[in-house]
Amino acid sequence: MTAMTSFGSTPKTLSEKLDWLDVRYWRFGHDELLEDHLFDLYAVGDDGAMTAQPRVDTLTGETRGLMVLGRSGDGKTALLMRTLRASPVLREFGQDMTGNTLFITVPPEATVKKLAELILARTGYKKIDSRLRSSDAWEMVVHRLGKVGITTVVIDECHHMFRTGAGRDKQGAIQSLKHILQSAGGVALIVAGVPSLRDEILAEPSGETYRRFQELKLSAVLPDTRNAALFATNLRQCAGVLGIHIPADDAFPERILFAHRGQVGRCVNLAKEILREATTRGRDALSLAAADRVFRKSNTGVGQTPFHDAPWETVRVELEAIGWGM
Ligand SMILES: Nc1ncnc2c1ncn2[C@@H]1O[C@H](COP(=O)(O)OP(=O)(O)OP(=O)(O)O)[C@@H](O)[C@H]1O
Ligand SMILES: [Mg+2]
Repeated sequence: MTAMTSFGSTPKTLSEKLDWLDVRYWRFGHDELLEDHLFDLYAVGDDGAMTAQPRVDTLTGETRGLMVLGRSGDGKTALLMRTLRASPVLREFGQDMTGNTLFITVPPEATVKKLAELILARTGYKKIDSRLRSSDAWEMVVHRLGKVGITTVVIDECHHMFRTGAGRDKQGAIQSLKHILQSAGGVALIVAGVPSLRDEILAEPSGETYRRFQELKLSAVLPDTRNAALFATNLRQCAGVLGIHIPADDAFPERILFAHRGQVGRCVNLAKEILREATTRGRDALSLAAADRVFRKSNTGVGQTPFHDAPWETVRVELEAIGWGM
């Protein structure tokens, strides 16, 4: 497997290089795990490839769901969007009302009913009666999904459905997820959120909704793992295209991963920021001093950073002694 999915054409000018770097997606083991989970959710064609038709339990008529869990910055949204873009069968449902996969992000303030209204509006149903009850609104959602040909719903930031406060309804939130899984034509449901989302769904006394979900937890990239090696490869390949040398003895990949405790999204962004800094300053090699400056710009008030100019093993031991750690 190559680490990065595509290089496109080699960038030459400074602005081409920066744009190129910006949109680079770094592949990790998470991508394969998600693909593997998705494979379970859908019917398989005679050629052995996944189709867009969700697998339906013949006895209950229900589909299955997938929960993608991770801390903020672990890269849930980037992973889901990338997988969707790269899928040969799932196509995002857009403004032109085509596509079989609806990607919806729950706004922090949305109530369960509001979310139903949002889905109805996105799928072209505008005549929503404000007196509609939440459960009726979800009935309409399910009907609407079938009508416009949506067979997969991705609900990102799903934990926002479970916030407490006035007008909030955790039972209703669970119910609405179950509605989707029980919809007539068959709709696969992918929900993504912070780890507490799992507890919220698990809190249902009967546990019946939780049972319908598979789980993918995005773990941190730990030292000396395949994902750490992929991180180093991605970094080296990006630097290569940008014409930037990475001094091998300085342990840049290890330091960057340590700096954000292996959280994929945050570590990739830091790596890109360090590469960007060198590119825009016209330098042809990374330096610890420059990386230290980059890190401090978005992490003010830290004493020693992982980019301290000393052998990495020494720096790591010192940082761990003052409470840093993966
Ligand atoms: N594999 C990747 N390759 C390149 N960039 C990535 C990758 N994963 C994440 N990122 C970048 O890292 C940042 C954080 O990722 P993302 O927003 O997907 O995290 P998240 O888990 O959805 O966080 P939140 O819970 O706050 O929404 C984004 O800027 C995203 O573009
Ligand atoms: Mg996100």
